[in-house]
Amino acid sequence: MSIYGDYIKSVIRTVPDWPQSGVNFRDITPLLQNSAAFRKLIDSFVHRYQEMDIDAVAAIDARGFIVGAPLAYELGCSFVPVRKKGKLPFKTISETYTLEYGEAEVELHSDAFREGDRILVVDDLIATGGTMLAAAKLITRTGGHVVETAAIVDLPDLSGSQRIRDAGYSVFSVCS
Ligand code: PRP
Ligand code: HPA
Repeated sequence: MSIYGDYIKSVIRTVPDWPQSGVNFRDITPLLQNSAAFRKLIDSFVHRYQEMDIDAVAAIDARGFIVGAPLAYELGCSFVPVRKKGKLPFKTISETYTLEYGEAEVELHSDAFREGDRILVVDDLIATGGTMLAAAKLITRTGGHVVETAAIVDLPDLSGSQRIRDAGYSVFSVCS
């Protein structure tokens, strides 16, 4: 939990039965519409990472970009998009992961990092952890050092953050 965790949690909306019956969808759009809340959100990430010598923020397509770009700007480091399959134009490496139904793939440009670069991976939310873990593994494969994986929201009941930790990566979330 971060310095503004309770407040950030209070401005996230829960939409019952979306996208399907039985799912409580945590909707960050009210947080984004509230300029004071959005500033506190970015500040809470800046507060945590400003002394950690981050070389690049790697943000996950698409909602991770919302957090990743202002954070990279504030930290004064590179921004690297981790994209869904088929979106990056140059030489890519990819990692496949399992969804509830079927598979998905994330991609990274092969020249996105230099060997040993200190990388922060960000996304809006960790559910099963599959997306974040695939991104972290990709970065490790390119020779980047994953300092931490970070999200606005963790859904601990789905054990995704534990799965990421079990794979050897550190996990931070602003709220749960
Ligand atoms: C959502 C969310 C995370 C991921 C979390 O993305 O933004 O990236 O799912 O789920 P997981 O922990 O079970 O992998 P989505 O695929 O809906 O894409 P979007 O950001 O483009 O909406
Ligand atoms: N909110 C947003 N994205 C998600 C969720 C959620 O509750 N579950 C899986 N991806």
